[in-house]
Order: sequence, then structure tokens, then C-alpha cells
Amino acid sequence: MTATTTTTVTTTSGGHCSKSYRRGGGCGGGVMLIASILVLSVHYGHAQDFGYDGEKGPSHWGEQYNSCTGKHQSPININSLDVKKVNLPPLVFQGFNVAPKETNLTNNGHTVVVTMDSEVTPTVSGGPLAGMYEYSQLHFHWGDNDTFGSEDMIDNHRFPMELHIVFFKQEYKNARTALNHPDGLTVLAFFYEIAPVDNPMYDEFIALLGNVTGSHLSARFETPPSLKDLLAEDLLHYYTYDGSLTTPPCSEVVTWIDFKEPILLSHAQVQAFRALEDEEGHPLTHNFRPVQPLGDRVVLYNTDELIKQVELDEEHPPEPEGVDTNKLDTHKSASEEAKSPKDPSNRKQPRNDAVSILPGTTRWTLLIVALTLISTIVQC
Ligand SMILES: *[C@@H]1O[C@H](CO)[C@@H](O)[C@H](O)[C@H]1NC(C)=O
Ligand SMILES: *[C@@H]1O[C@H](CO)[C@@H](O)[C@H](O)[C@H]1NC(C)=O
Ligand SMILES: *[C@@H]1O[C@H](CO)[C@@H](O)[C@H](O)[C@H]1NC(C)=O
Ligand SMILES: [Zn+2]
Repeated sequence: MTATTTTTVTTTSGGHCSKSYRRGGGCGGGVMLIASILVLSVHYGHAQDFGYDGEKGPSHWGEQYNSCTGKHQSPININSLDVKKVNLPPLVFQGFNVAPKETNLTNNGHTVVVTMDSEVTPTVSGGPLAGMYEYSQLHFHWGDNDTFGSEDMIDNHRFPMELHIVFFKQEYKNARTALNHPDGLTVLAFFYEIAPVDNPMYDEFIALLGNVTGSHLSARFETPPSLKDLLAEDLLHYYTYDGSLTTPPCSEVVTWIDFKEPILLSHAQVQAFRALEDEEGHPLTHNFRPVQPLGDRVVLYNTDELIKQVELDEEHPPEPEGVDTNKLDTHKSASEEAKSPKDPSNRKQPRNDAVSILPGTTRWTLLIVALTLISTIVQC
């Protein structure tokens, strides 16, 4: 997945360093601020610079982003015979069937991103989530042909495309600050499968792709679709595990929720995505990261079949391995339980490179702030 947010950089009390300098305070702080700003802009440059082939490709991401070599990375292959079956509290979707006031489609050079401005911001809670998560954006991953393109795999099967709907935990205010928290984001992921006929819910969407072929182009929906219009029907059966962003900085802050039922699109509809261009004007024919080691993680599979089984077999209630329905009463326990017994801290500390997703304008702002501070310090 890719996270994109907008950030405002504010500077306070610029030119008062001589006073603080005599007291031995202000200038040092300025130097540290400059240092961190420079680090951030360096990382920012590289985050925009990643790609899916050669020197910029996934095997090189770890050179600039330590998190990309972490132990709890995404995507993964989910082995359906090796998941822990659970019956989590229901996922609660709010605002999913409300058509937004305004919806934009933007080619960011890596994928196409949908942002919306809605009277009711969509939120998701429940299931494996502790707390309320707010919609940030959605985007897609695809491959050169219909035989691959999804990021997560199910039983070594790749789907032609995958949808990522990114939500940040509301208490962290926005997607950028959420990257500093191990439970900062959740991504609702849907796989696509090829159907013989067009999916009419995607008609305007696919048509608009033709307006954003070039990198950094945007187009506005005439009739914004609600989130629900774009999804599959069955929202009960899903896999869930703790992982990372699938693009730099690969922060390990994502509760993944991968729905089992795919969304259907025709070949021509999926093909339309492959006509988009990257920042160098080359066709963006594939933008998925290879699967990463599962490591000590356990993937949960949410289903109601456990309950049905109990109902059918009252005399001999089954005791499926690792499933303790009492523990599922509290929101987080099931997924916490699923974490490694070997490594109680489990999730890595998020890194500073999280801020590398700052948008282009912010980079210049940071540069100007840095130069201003340098001149301030020179005066000191
Ligand atoms: C959509 O794009 C327009 C024009 O660039 C911008 O003013 C608006 O804020 C965008 N809205 C959303 C929801 O992204
Ligand atoms: C899909 O692309 C892969 C990799 O380029 C290739 O090996 C395979 O033959 C292609 N499959 C079809 C059906 O075109
Ligand atoms: C998309 O492109 C078509 C054809 O060039 C044009 O008629 C239409 O106004 C464009 N729509 C948007 C939302 O930019
Ligand atoms: Zn993604």
C-alpha cells in the first residue's frame, strides 16, 4: 500500500537565537532541527524515487529504508491451511454507502489514488481493530497480465489486481502521524478476479483513468461512487495479520484485513490500469511488491463456521486448536494472542523515515525552512 498525506510545516520564533545562544539553548535546538529536516528531505527524495524494476526495485528498498528489511513485512503468501480460524466481533463500517461530495482520481507515478471529500467520512472499527479508523485514500496494485498483480497471495495464487483502502487510527489525527504507532493504520484489501463482462460500478472510474495517464494528473468524478459501490458483498470472511506498508518506508504499522471474496472486473477494465504511466513516462505495467517472509506471525481467518460447527455438534463441542471464544470478547486479544510468543514486543519501533511520504510542495518548504535556520545559525 501507499500512504499519502498533506503536512504543514510551521516554524516558530525564527530570529531570536543570539539571546538564547548566550543562555546556551536556542541555537543547539536549531541545529538539531536542521539536522532532522535534512534527514527528512533525503528520505523524502528516495521515497518518491522507488520503483518496481532494476536499481529502484523492491530488492533495493532496504538500502534506504531499514524498515523494508523488517521481520513483519507485507505482502505475504497466506496459506489457507495454516491460518487460525476465529470469529471476531463484527467489523463496523460507517459512511461506506454515502456518495462523497467530491472524489478525485490521481496518478501519483506509482499507482492511481482516490481521495474523497464526504459529509460522512468513512470509518471502520471492530473485527481485529481496537478503536476507530478513518478513511485516508484508496489505490491499486496490478501486473503486466491477468496472471499476477496482487500483492498478498492466497495459497500461492496471485490475483490480477488488488485494492487497498487505507485508514488511519482516528486518535492519531492523520495518516502521517499514524505511521509512528504500531496500530496506526488498517488497510482493507480486496482482490480482483476477471469476469466475462464489465462491472458497471467501475464504468466512470475506468473512463477517468484515460484522463490521468500521465504521472501527477488528476480528474474529478462526475458521479462519485460510494465506497460500498466498489467493494465485494461478503465482508464477513477475511484474513487478518499484522504487517507493513508495501511501499517505502515499509513502516510496520498496518493491520491488514484481506477479504476473501474477490471483486469482479472484465479483462478490458483491468487492462485500462496498465496504460497509466510512471514518472518517467513509461507504462506502469506492474506495481506490486514480491511476498515477504511470514516469520513468526500467525494469520487469522475470520469466519462464522466455528459457531455453526458448535451448533451442529452440541454434544461434542469442538475445541479447534488455538481458538478460545472467551478471549475474542476483547477486541485486540485475538490478534495479540496470535503474535509471537518468542518476541513479546513483536512490532518494531516505527522509524523516522515514516515522514518520507511528505508531498512535493512540503519538500520545498522543508528546504526553505532549513536554509532559513542555517542563516539564523550563521548569525549566531
Ligand atoms: C480534488 O482536486 C481539486 C483540484 O485539484 C482540489 O481542489 C480538491 O481539494 C480535491 N479534492 C479531494 C477530495 O481530493
Ligand atoms: C504473463 O506475464 C509473465 C511475465 O512476463 C509471462 O511469463 C507469462 O507468460 C504471461 N502470461 C500470459 C498468459 O500472457
Ligand atoms: C476526461 O477526458 C475527456 C476526453 O478527453 C473529456 O471530455 C472529459 O471532460 C475529461 N473529464 C475530466 C473529469 O477531466
Ligand atoms: Zn497498496
